[in-house]
Amino acid sequence: MAGRVNRRWLIAKRFDGQVSEANFRWVETLVPSPDEGQFLVRNRWFSFDPTQVYMLGRGYPGEPEGAENPVGDVMGTIAVSEVVESRHPDFAPGDVVHGHTAWEDYTVTDGKGFTPTYRLPEGVPLNWALGALGLTGLVAYFGVHEVARPKPGETFVISGAAGGVGSIASQLAKIAGLRVIGIAGTPAKCDWLLREAGIDAAVNYRTEDVGKRLSELCPDGIDVFFDNDGGPTLDRALDRLRPGGRVVLSGATSRYPAREQPPGPANYLALVMVNGRMEGLLGRDFVPRRSEAWDALLPLLRSGRLKSKEDVLYGLREAPQGLARLYSGENVGKQLLQMDDPPATGRAASPSAIRPEGLARR
Ligand SMILES: NC(=O)c1ccc[n+]([C@@H]2O[C@H](COP(=O)([O-])OP(=O)(O)OC[C@H]3O[C@@H](n4cnc5c(N)ncnc54)[C@H](OP(=O)(O)O)[C@@H]3O)[C@@H](O)[C@H]2O)c1
Repeated sequence: MAGRVNRRWLIAKRFDGQVSEANFRWVETLVPSPDEGQFLVRNRWFSFDPTQVYMLGRGYPGEPEGAENPVGDVMGTIAVSEVVESRHPDFAPGDVVHGHTAWEDYTVTDGKGFTPTYRLPEGVPLNWALGALGLTGLVAYFGVHEVARPKPGETFVISGAAGGVGSIASQLAKIAGLRVIGIAGTPAKCDWLLREAGIDAAVNYRTEDVGKRLSELCPDGIDVFFDNDGGPTLDRALDRLRPGGRVVLSGATSRYPAREQPPGPANYLALVMVNGRMEGLLGRDFVPRRSEAWDALLPLLRSGRLKSKEDVLYGLREAPQGLARLYSGENVGKQLLQMDDPPATGRAASPSAIRPEGLARR
């Protein structure tokens, strides 16, 4: 690898309500070499997650600002990559791995970071490894089955329903026998939820009165609210929780870009009145249990009963766009980027058009 160019996106400035290419700076350096205990990977696919905006804007709660991603550093990401050189006992050249790398062609890593690196089993499509089987899928799966603990026939409402986590969680709730109402931001997303994901009703929060629609659609109240967006929708759902209702906190996309965090839900006392429960979950903590989720998800994915909705960009140049699209709401399903050139048809904005990319090697 010595002498080869490594293209990289560095963090140029922190987010302040906006997410755009202006937050990043393109540089070209030489590919680094791994030291003892490290390995060098060639990045193949990137995942985009609103949490990256939170991390870059403010650092994680309880950590000093910028602890994860200082200005001037290369932008971090969760990726699927191929090991090309190794001085690490657990990884060998040719291994295809899931882990924390960065917006660059090649990354030297020790396999630690936001989520520890693991080898992908043979036969797992690389796009699924970051979407339905990645942190996205783990939050959806364990959020639905372990935090919500749903009973068939219950009413399940979800915000961010047509995004990466939302598109999987909505379908899993439906498969579990629940009545599912999805909240999303465009007619196309609502259409996808009804026609492809097969849920029972969809609400466009940008054009409809969410509280009024939820009262119409859930006359007996809500058993589970799965929250991806945070913000006013959470208040509307809390108002309508049934006795024993549960709120699953996956994330709060609407809150991440702001430098100052707005106040939390105004009416959390609604939980008292219904003996309700609000509980968060962190996907990376479920990585050690991923085989439990994969055993359930892989047959559903392979049979087509669970659709992996993905939105794919091509080429490292597009990485800032990948993040920006989460905030323009352009992405439908999981936002991914493949490092290789686009297929002959050009950029595939139509996610369902992508075929599972080559199989992972052991
Ligand atoms: N707990 C964990 O470990 C974990 C792991 C992964 C993800 N998450 C969380 O899950 C949530 C969804 O993540 P994802 O990766 O699946 O992203 P995503 O939902 O695919 O993409 C973000 C979506 O958020 C919506 N949005 C954008 N700006 C918004 C705003 N100002 N207010 C409300 N909604 C806005 C847009 O959908 P609309 O057009 O429908 O508004 C956009 O498509 C995030 O909060 C993320 O942090 C948590």
